[in-house]
Amino acid sequence: MAWYFYEAIPESKVPPGTKARCLVEGFDIAIYNVDGTFYASADACPHERVSLGDGGYVDGETVTCGAHRWCFNVRTGECYEDAGFKLTTFPVGRKEGMVYVGFWGDDTVEEEAPTAGFDDAEDDAEAPA
Ligand code: FES
Repeated sequence: MAWYFYEAIPESKVPPGTKARCLVEGFDIAIYNVDGTFYASADACPHERVSLGDGGYVDGETVTCGAHRWCFNVRTGECYEDAGFKLTTFPVGRKEGMVYVGFWGDDTVEEEAPTAGFDDAEDDAEAPA
């Protein structure tokens, strides 16, 4: 098992201090640019599934959902309102101006996606529980 990275969105579409929603391998993903460092999470807010990439706003490592103003850390997934909720986060890689998002999988089904060779990939990120 390893992290397999899939093309998500051009870096230029997510300037510092902003976020965007994109589709990666059929999954809605939110991409955040925190002072030039990119983070990725599931797009759906863990509270009531509203899009984080389309609504609300990002300030530093905190994204605030536009629906009920719950706040999450985009790096750790921590929810500041209720520790019982957690935002699913993904490792990010960057290469030639493109942001890639890592999904955990095995090489029998993920053989097309690269596992390494990024400028700053978090391919050593912890395996999901
Ligand atoms: S849906 Fe995001 S805070 Fe309620």
